[in-house]
Amino acid sequence: MTDILLLPVLLHPAPILRAKARPVAEGDADRVRELAPRMLATMYKAPGIGLAAPQVGEGLRLIVLDVQHEGSPPSPMVLVNPEIVAASEERAIREEGCLSIPGQYADVERPARVKVRWRELDGTRREMEADDLLATCLQHEIDHLDGVMFTDRISPLKRNMLLKRFLKEQKLKSREAM
Ligand code: NI
Repeated sequence: MTDILLLPVLLHPAPILRAKARPVAEGDADRVRELAPRMLATMYKAPGIGLAAPQVGEGLRLIVLDVQHEGSPPSPMVLVNPEIVAASEERAIREEGCLSIPGQYADVERPARVKVRWRELDGTRREMEADDLLATCLQHEIDHLDGVMFTDRISPLKRNMLLKRFLKEQKLKSREAM
């Protein structure tokens, strides 16, 4: 993967992270086929377990993820126009982070299981039921396509603290870089 050009990951508060992404259409096929491997390479390099197109400046409904444990063979997934078609009433709490808010983590409560529908790069329709980490990751990434960040799903108090801490750390980092 070393010859694949990595993409810069946009950080909070980049406006595109707050915009609703548009569905991938047939005319986007070439763009998406070029973008998907670069998004995967960028995600693995970070390292992260999921990445949504708006995070690399593309307002398209496209996500990539790989929730395999460290040491297991990679299991990359590319989901075009993913949607959650069902969610369990049962909820689960899991610690989440985001490549667009690096270094910050918070417990987020979401449905424990979801059913997701999407298309493969070749247009094939797919559907899957997910639980555990995969369910969390799918919901987190699909949220990005609607301009929603994991920080929107925690209490306002925790959100303010986390985002303030993040911006402060970013300021320190840019000062150190000067
Ligand atoms: Ni994220």
